Amino acid sequence: MNITDNIKYVGMSDNNLDYFEGQYKTPNGMSYNSYMIIDEKIAVLDTVDARFKDEWLKKVSEAIGNREPDYLVVHHMEPDHSSNIKNFLDKYSNCKVVSSFAAFAMMKNYFDTAFADRQVAIKDGDKLCLGKHTLNFIATPMVHWPEVHMSFEESEGILFSADAFGKFGVMGTNEPWDDEARRYYIGIVGMHGTFVQNVLKKAATLPIKKICPLHGEIIDKDFGHYIDLYDKWSGYKKEKDGVCIAYTTVYGHMKEAIEKLTEMLKKNGTNVEVFNLLRDDMSEAVAKAFAYENLILATTTYNNGIFPLMNDFTHRLIEHKIQNKKIGIIEGGTWAPQAGNILKNMFKDLPNITIDENIVTVLGSLNKDSEEKLEKLAKSFSNIL
Ligand code: FEO
Repeated sequence: MNITDNIKYVGMSDNNLDYFEGQYKTPNGMSYNSYMIIDEKIAVLDTVDARFKDEWLKKVSEAIGNREPDYLVVHHMEPDHSSNIKNFLDKYSNCKVVSSFAAFAMMKNYFDTAFADRQVAIKDGDKLCLGKHTLNFIATPMVHWPEVHMSFEESEGILFSADAFGKFGVMGTNEPWDDEARRYYIGIVGMHGTFVQNVLKKAATLPIKKICPLHGEIIDKDFGHYIDLYDKWSGYKKEKDGVCIAYTTVYGHMKEAIEKLTEMLKKNGTNVEVFNLLRDDMSEAVAKAFAYENLILATTTYNNGIFPLMNDFTHRLIEHKIQNKKIGIIEGGTWAPQAGNILKNMFKDLPNITIDENIVTVLGSLNKDSEEKLEKLAKSFSNIL
């Protein structure tokens, strides 16, 4: 596949991956994108996951013809992109490796060598001239690791964006970009919003014609849409009106309460998306919790705490720095419910989080009193629209 006449795609599609990083489901697999710029000098941009060593080296070799690569550019050292650095440099013994100082330190940890005699160390603002093509390096720490640099190829207007603008799914998967890119972004990079905002400021100054990420599709149109989403996600801003509800249920009483609440909210014209944390995908629930303006959490008191999957869910939200959100709480229990106070305290130090004061208690099962409180909660979240 050609990105342009002189820039080729040499990435790999992983159709058999069940979970990326062992925790994010990948029903449509995963791509590990690698690119090649062919000019007076040839640069290969990033390697691929370890399992694709032979296939990738063959693909590169076929794309390169009877020439040899001059540079291997390493934008990011996470093993899904860096595992084949040594294999590549062993095969092409005259090839230099271009990367940041921090990345070379990481190479030493992975390969027991930092390839000292073959290093071209770059930092923010440095250029690598290949002939007609020139890569301009942009330091983008914490998007997603500290060593990350993106590069902008100025003659064709191509931003090699490392993990940014990536998504789950192999190249060419027919699925909405937004959902799988959101789940990827929130899960993988979500806690580093400030750094992503800095990148967006830098990117706004570049005449970008294509964005080539390390995962997923090449973006060559509608930049406003993608950048707007990245701005919302990294700025912890509202993407969707309405409420994300996440709940756990042990004997079905909380499920009944959530069904009633959902009905009430919908009747009031509120957009609602519900996740049963015992059945639905955790990473999707987390991503949607960030996307919606409001969040309602419903769980049972359990072992003097909250139900384990809600505990996992809320910790993920907090680790990813959830903020700018109104949160409603429904607690369950039979004799001494504590889940409400526990949840309230968990979120107390996060910026701009408002906990709705009407915490609904379901003592055993729903009754007249708890249904009235549920109605009040529904009204409180409906009025926001
Ligand atoms: Fe796709 Fe942070 O590596």
